[in-house]
Amino acid sequence: MNDRLDVADSQQPVAPAGTGTVAIGDGLPRIDAFAKVTGRARYAAEHPAERLLYAVVVNTPVPCGRIASIDPTASLAVPGVVDVMTHLNRPKMRSLDLFYKDMTAPLSGSPFKPLHDDRIHYSGQPVAVVLAETFEAARHAGRLLDVQVAAEPHETNLLVHLDRAREPSSFKAGYSKPPQPRGDADAVWAAAAVRVDAESHAGVEHHNPMELFAATVIRGEDGHLTIHDKTQGSQNSRWIVSRAFGLPASKVTVRNAFVGGAFGSGLRPQYSLLLAVMASLKHHRSVRLVLSRQQMFTFGHRPETWQRVRLAADAEGRLTAIVHEAIAETSRLEDYVEVVVNWSGQLYACDNVRLDYKLVPLDQYSPMDMRAPGAAHGVHALEVAMDELSYAAGLDPLELRLRNYATRDSSKDLPYSTKELHACYQQAAARFGWSRRAKEVRATRDGHEWVGHGMATGMWDAMQMFARARAVLSADGRLLVESAATDIGTGTYTVMAQIAAAELGLALERVTFRLGDSTLPVAPIEGGSSHVATVGSAVKGACEKVRRELWRRAKRHVAGFAKARFVDLDFRDGRVGLRDGGPSVAYEDLLGGEAAIDVKYLLLPNVLKQRKYVRAVHSAVFCEVRVDEALGTVRVVRVVTAVAAGRIINPVTARSQVVGGIVWGISQGLHEETQSDHALGRFMNHNLSEYHVAANADVGHIDVIFVAEDDRVVSSLGAKGVGEIGIVGVAAAISNAIYHATGRRLRSTPMTPDKVMAR
Ligand code: MOS
Repeated sequence: MNDRLDVADSQQPVAPAGTGTVAIGDGLPRIDAFAKVTGRARYAAEHPAERLLYAVVVNTPVPCGRIASIDPTASLAVPGVVDVMTHLNRPKMRSLDLFYKDMTAPLSGSPFKPLHDDRIHYSGQPVAVVLAETFEAARHAGRLLDVQVAAEPHETNLLVHLDRAREPSSFKAGYSKPPQPRGDADAVWAAAAVRVDAESHAGVEHHNPMELFAATVIRGEDGHLTIHDKTQGSQNSRWIVSRAFGLPASKVTVRNAFVGGAFGSGLRPQYSLLLAVMASLKHHRSVRLVLSRQQMFTFGHRPETWQRVRLAADAEGRLTAIVHEAIAETSRLEDYVEVVVNWSGQLYACDNVRLDYKLVPLDQYSPMDMRAPGAAHGVHALEVAMDELSYAAGLDPLELRLRNYATRDSSKDLPYSTKELHACYQQAAARFGWSRRAKEVRATRDGHEWVGHGMATGMWDAMQMFARARAVLSADGRLLVESAATDIGTGTYTVMAQIAAAELGLALERVTFRLGDSTLPVAPIEGGSSHVATVGSAVKGACEKVRRELWRRAKRHVAGFAKARFVDLDFRDGRVGLRDGGPSVAYEDLLGGEAAIDVKYLLLPNVLKQRKYVRAVHSAVFCEVRVDEALGTVRVVRVVTAVAAGRIINPVTARSQVVGGIVWGISQGLHEETQSDHALGRFMNHNLSEYHVAANADVGHIDVIFVAEDDRVVSSLGAKGVGEIGIVGVAAAISNAIYHATGRRLRSTPMTPDKVMAR
């Protein structure tokens, strides 16, 4: 057991007494809800420590250049200030890039190393950390710091540098590379009678989870560091800290028991973590570092992306050519690559396909993953172009999709493990009332608003990684299951406890699932909608081992069980029984006098089986918009989405994920964009008053349907994943509905009033 976990720190939520037995597929509320709403759940910045030093980061607004001087005199004169830490007086860190590569998909290039040297790579780069006995003193002193930068010319404007686009260097290794062209898409398109050519632009988006990035580093007497970090993977943060500072793994524990949203921002460790550790090592004290909301705009973002989609169809509306080109920004440090165009070769059946994805390095921080990275842009561009093609071909937009339905993935020439997209179209269309949609555009007006209906398809990958889980059934009949998984608000605590309780036939309140600690059995980062298929399957595997051990003990000790086969047994209500009646025995009685059952299970994906299939999650999104032409405002009054994501373990938490994705789709489609002043090379609206995230008033009625699907190729649970699919296609459905309402085609996001009104 982990001897560093004391009672005060053990915050693992458990279902309230009386919840009783549960099954896979039951809609259960979050077991961590009570701890969260009562404030008992501690987030990264909320853990107490003795003699805590408060750290405040100072950033430079200059996008490119060298630090000429930093004069700390005024800052150090503030009472309570202990130090101004810069690249000149920081503790020793490793300098090789190798030690800064984390466990996420490796980007090619040099990861950003905070306070490494005098080089300025981007506007917003941290250049100093002020340390003080109070947060207020540190913040005040930070404002007084005199930083002089020798500026150099910078380039931050993607659209004027499209001619510099080049292949990502990672394509040489085949990573995320679009498939080779099929047929001759350009020639077929050029000669086609029915065709569209759709160019679009997507603005920069920044992560705005409720919880700010923060790290509390608690230094033990022995120098051990216990770090509460906002991260999507405690073991990833632990790894980077050990590597960057050359500390043995045993000297560092990272915990993330509760995370207030992350959505991809916590996949890579952020500079807040390394700076907090730096301060702790330098001063041999515990340190807390919290970024401000403005500073949330000083690391990774969803990259600005230019796209062009060309589609051609025959007289029946069958796709004859697809050409999808995308150019995205990256930093000069690394090639950030997301799979933007690949889905365009998979989603529909078509013989002539050419996909192209390039990058332009700019003086920016490396972009980073944000919910459905790549698909949120790429599928948007494809699905807007499909809508345009439906009008060019004189077909209903849904009918066009059905005519081009792919039963097999032609880019890889493989079958789908499961694909219930057809049922998604049917069920969502029926619920929405799509057949009653006006055939003509600009046909329906209600008061001062035009009314429009639009639809789009969504697609995301169904991944499984490897993980370990440990299960301990104690003499009191309670079950502890643990894995270094993460719950970024997705419901991991609840769903993992539910899987374990269902597997062993235990009341939910008798199961504790522990996560969020780097010393627990290995688990991947919570990302890519893969946690249930991965950690959930490991939990299931561990519980199966517990059942087998219960069987062995029952055979040994209980009359009537001596000859029982495993398949004859029933595990329910905390008892092992024989299926056809007969004796049963409580788990406690089997454990009496003997040691607890304590097993570990390693989940390795069945790669040999999985690689014979394409594994994906699908959705169909329908929406109604109301457009005020005089004001240019768009209201999304209702959205119906049907999702095929394998077996749904918990429809309550799964629905919550999809609703969150739809809300963000509305936000991406209509509101969110970080605007740059390219003369300064700087993001200007770095706060929530000018960077609008959809609020309740922006969101209409949302209806989520889960289509029946059960995929034992992706996971033994039959589950795929629901974290990302909710957002994919939403902005496209809105765009298509705006066209239906007004006859105005908006392809670029966000579709703000100026674009709606532009002539
Ligand atoms: Mo998600 S962008 O994989 O956290």
